[in-house]
Amino acid sequence: MVLLTGSKKIKTAVFISGTGSNLKSLINFSKLKNSPISIKLIISNNDKAKGLIFAKRYKIKKKIFNFKRNILVDRKLILLLKRNNICLICLAGFMKILSKNFIKKFKGKILNIHPSLLPKYKGLNTHERALKNKDKYSGCTVHFVNSKLDSGKIILQKKVIIKKNDTSKTLAKRILMQEHKLYPKAILKIFNL
Ligand code: GRF
Repeated sequence: MVLLTGSKKIKTAVFISGTGSNLKSLINFSKLKNSPISIKLIISNNDKAKGLIFAKRYKIKKKIFNFKRNILVDRKLILLLKRNNICLICLAGFMKILSKNFIKKFKGKILNIHPSLLPKYKGLNTHERALKNKDKYSGCTVHFVNSKLDSGKIILQKKVIIKKNDTSKTLAKRILMQEHKLYPKAILKIFNL
């Protein structure tokens, strides 16, 4: 296995909107010797996002953007990412849709984690929909981001069995635990590690 030293690691930005448990797992992963990434920036649309505490805790630069003002945000955000030599963007519970222009600029470099077995249940309320349809399984997916919502090339998926008395909350919790393992695995996979 290739060992990457600090300076050779791929400079990564993580985009969050909420709790940031996937961010935390990515930070832990980035600190491992065999991890190809180093997290240099945390971006959020929400200055109240709980996950922003990890910026302070791990001394990672953070920046809040108002994603409503699309063109302006695009310019500023792209500049910030370029200035920090960001080569990989991990969306982790990021609830805003990125512009086509932004996605084009970072083509093939944006990943997302989604709490369903895509192509099933794109968008929101995935667990509720899986339960309503009485599915036997749900799970999570890491995929490349393209201009269509939750539709880019799939990198890895993990199935999670739906139990008889699952609620969307219990199912979400079990899937989230798998998300924390799946995201690092998917990153290793794209770098052939
Ligand atoms: C995760 O289930 C993710 O797949 C979804 O939102 C949740 C975010 O959780 N898009 P966290 O903020 O990483 O804890």
